[in-house]
Amino acid sequence: MIECIDSGEFHVYAPPLGFEALRQAILRDLSLDSAFSVLVTDGAIEGLYHACRTFIGPGEEFLVTDPGWLWPRRFAASSGARVIELPIYDKAAGYRLRPEQLRQAITPKTRLIYLVDPSNPLGSVQTRAEIVEIAELAREAGITLIHDCTYRHFAGEHTLAATYYPEGTITTYSFSKWLGIAGLRLGALVAAPDVIARLAVAAPNNLGASVLAQRAALAGLEHKADWFPAVQDAQLANQASIKAAVDAVPGLDIAVYPSNGNFLAIDVSGASVTPERLCEYYLERNMLIRQGSYHTAQVGDRFIKVSTTVPSEWMAEFCDQLGEAVQVCRRQNAAGSLF
Ligand SMILES: Cc1ncc(COP(=O)(O)O)c(C=O)c1O
Repeated sequence: MIECIDSGEFHVYAPPLGFEALRQAILRDLSLDSAFSVLVTDGAIEGLYHACRTFIGPGEEFLVTDPGWLWPRRFAASSGARVIELPIYDKAAGYRLRPEQLRQAITPKTRLIYLVDPSNPLGSVQTRAEIVEIAELAREAGITLIHDCTYRHFAGEHTLAATYYPEGTITTYSFSKWLGIAGLRLGALVAAPDVIARLAVAAPNNLGASVLAQRAALAGLEHKADWFPAVQDAQLANQASIKAAVDAVPGLDIAVYPSNGNFLAIDVSGASVTPERLCEYYLERNMLIRQGSYHTAQVGDRFIKVSTTVPSEWMAEFCDQLGEAVQVCRRQNAAGSLF
């Protein structure tokens, strides 16, 4: 990044699809070959926005998991689509989408499936067998599958749907989580060349993504093997700290442990405490955790989500206060509203 600034490279626009070296490096990172193409975007979210505006229209149906990540629902809804939620907050099903659920939800109007895997906010990951089935269902029905793989790098094992349904899967890629450059806004869509060509016709970032951010991403990918394992070890150690703290508080239960994302979802429904009040308690102590309702209207009253790519001292502070937080907040309502 310093070289990019010193040389003045940023004075010019980047190529519309992204730097060629970066496009190749993203494919290598996903272990995908040149049968796929890449559109570098201003964060994965911009790619999601563009895909939702390009591939779905009024009267068509958009299938999503609930809980999930809310923004693509809004993007599809703003395209006029009907959003259909498939509930996955089910311990017995491993908090994952069951292919059978998907089969039953598909209609002739279904145009897009949006699968966040690993799941944000639950931390579950679909098995290979499930991905094979989901890919098959999408192919049979001629539906485009958006596989949001934003948290893939934190997963124990992760299967790309693109491997089984290359012609109809759009894989999202983010540099915000594993590389930690959220503020630089860089991500990508990876798909078959004709799908990328269709997206490129009217891409909102046709003048190219940030040159500086692309240099940061390239450097990150180049050095990933040297330092990312330590990041992963540290966030797994943070997960273990939370697990120990949660196990000591009756009524709390971690949804998926270890989580396949850099966060843990903690079910608080057995502790007579609301997620909003707990979040407020921590916010008053300068700690930001998420209330479930940030992710879902259906089961938002059941869980909180805690990020684990934070310094271990922060984690210790969160864990030390958990027992008392639950005790204090029991049967209390939040005073204000949270974002
Ligand atoms: C599931 C999911 N997809 C996409 C994004 C956005 O990624 P980016 O920062 O690359 O736009 C997020 C951010 O939290 C996310 O949770």
